[in-house]
Amino acid sequence: MAHKFAANEIRPRAVEWDRDSVFPLELFRKAFDLGLMTGFIPEIYGGQGLTMLDTCILEEEISWGCSGVATSMNANGLALGPILLAGTGEQKRVFVQPFATEFRFASFCLTEPGAGSDAGGIATTARRDGDGYVLNGRKCFITNGVHASQYTVFASTDRSRGHKGLSAFVVPRETPGVSSGKKEDKMGQRASETSDVLFEEVRVPEANRLGAEGEGFKIAMRTIDYARAGVAAMAVGVARAAYEHAAEYGRQRVQFGQPIAMNQAIYFLLADMATDIEAARLLTWKAAWLADQGKRNTKESSFAKAFAADLAMRAATDAVQIFGGYGYMKDYPVEKLMRDAKLLQIFEGTSQIQRMVIAKETLLR
Ligand code: CAA
Repeated sequence: MAHKFAANEIRPRAVEWDRDSVFPLELFRKAFDLGLMTGFIPEIYGGQGLTMLDTCILEEEISWGCSGVATSMNANGLALGPILLAGTGEQKRVFVQPFATEFRFASFCLTEPGAGSDAGGIATTARRDGDGYVLNGRKCFITNGVHASQYTVFASTDRSRGHKGLSAFVVPRETPGVSSGKKEDKMGQRASETSDVLFEEVRVPEANRLGAEGEGFKIAMRTIDYARAGVAAMAVGVARAAYEHAAEYGRQRVQFGQPIAMNQAIYFLLADMATDIEAARLLTWKAAWLADQGKRNTKESSFAKAFAADLAMRAATDAVQIFGGYGYMKDYPVEKLMRDAKLLQIFEGTSQIQRMVIAKETLLR
């Protein structure tokens, strides 16, 4: 179903959404109605309770259609992940369940202008005040920030303690003092919207804090362990799209009296792409499967995210090369893939951060 949705609903309009930077709200509504945005929500809270492995298979297909669409469609999973991981039953009922029954967006607010790769360096504060907290700070590069009705916000309850002083909060959009900034004009993934989200003297009750004070950083990292497998699946979808376009073009394009795919220079590129796609998918599925077994998958998620995101960039670049001059033109599908793929090496931890995590989990232990 996800593949048909990508082929019939996403691909025919993906070029237009990319060109005009359109957030395709109606498409997302259709995806929601089909259950394509609620799979990660457990059945007791109204979702389908899919495994992480199921979710990765689904994300690969949607991203094969358009990775910008996939990024926005998957953002609820990232934003509600901390609640599912660290929330109480009551918090899950209040803050997750509505997303299974109503078409809404939530955003994960970790990154700040001064805290990107160094996620522990967050400057947003949550000041104790009576029976609640007052939040102040600015988050940036927030997926669906303009459209979200709820934010999961990481803020410092004790700045003297660094990452050990971070806590996680759920902030409903309508809370006074919450606002979103302008939509960013991105290189790729232009069907997905990204913006700042600002918190100015935003008061939330203690009931909106997830876990204990000081547990925020670990909640964020555990959520990201899951989410990185999902990004890897998206990257496999992009690489697969690049491979398919390049292979088809290689068979059709005749130069020097034969299809260019008959040249070793081209078919070696395609053979490497096909091999790496298989490897990236298996790394992704292993990371997802470990999460489904309740096992920590930090290292495997980083293996998958680094390998698959770098592959997506390489496959898209090679596809443009195989298309030659046509590949550089917007009339052909591969230049969009190249622009879209770049973001996969940056968000949810850059390719360099993945290698840092891998080194910490292996070499430096
Ligand atoms: N699970 C559980 N605990 C973890 C953990 C994990 N995966 N990773 C680290 N921790 C714990 C450590 O054990 C350590 O615990 P103690 O304090 O008890 O010893 C603590 O957290 C601090 O760990 P580190 O010393 O490793 O932390 P660090 O400051 O050196 O950095 C990092 C860790 C891996 C670099 C981290 O900052 C990171 O992942 N940075 C990248 C941020 C990122 O991915 N941002 C994505 C934003 S979301 C986004 O892009 C989504 C979007 O909108 C599309």
